[in-house]
Amino acid sequence: MRWSHYPQPIGVFDSGVGGLTVLRALQQQLPHESFLYLGDTARLPYGTKSAATVTRYARQCAKILAERGIKMLVVACNTASALALLQLRQDFLEIPVVGVIEPGAAAACEASIKGHIAVIATEGTIQHGAYEHAILTLRPQAKVISKSCSLFVALAEEGWVEGPIVEAVARAYLQPLFAAKDADLPDCLVLGCTHYPALLTAIKSAVP
Ligand code: DGL
Repeated sequence: MRWSHYPQPIGVFDSGVGGLTVLRALQQQLPHESFLYLGDTARLPYGTKSAATVTRYARQCAKILAERGIKMLVVACNTASALALLQLRQDFLEIPVVGVIEPGAAAACEASIKGHIAVIATEGTIQHGAYEHAILTLRPQAKVISKSCSLFVALAEEGWVEGPIVEAVARAYLQPLFAAKDADLPDCLVLGCTHYPALLTAIKSAVP
């Protein structure tokens, strides 16, 4: 039987409420499924913590959802997807465990015409090189540049998603990524963090 035929919910977790952007997309794609969402707001952010800590937190979140009987686990957090997905797949062999990095990388490879892709994400995700690796696996000739934008998470958590302060922070992070001459400019920007879509207007105002 395919996983979609089982009646149990799909478990989704993130370090906080940012993953609700992923949940919303899942609900749109799979309107007949039920979901169980865990946001680990008590321990946010994951993006600045060590790989060992993020993996420990991710395993604890996954265990809580698994104990409630889920048929699939979606790791909505990019940092946890980058640092803990392999461990989670080993822990939960009996259910599919899906992260957000590979689908995000695939979407970027499809959207980019030149194959010159910029990635913004948390420190943990960028240091791990997760998006770069996933993009280059799919499109070996791609050119990938990346930057961590840690303040974006704090701004989104504060509800500061628009206005001059957010736009100034967005410019400070993003303009160096888009400083090249026209032919060398990235033609695709990956928002590799659950919180960044909340700042989309400011981010768009800072890139060509
Ligand atoms: N959920 C994290 C991610 O997508 C962002 C917030 C955090 O640092 O915990 O990487």
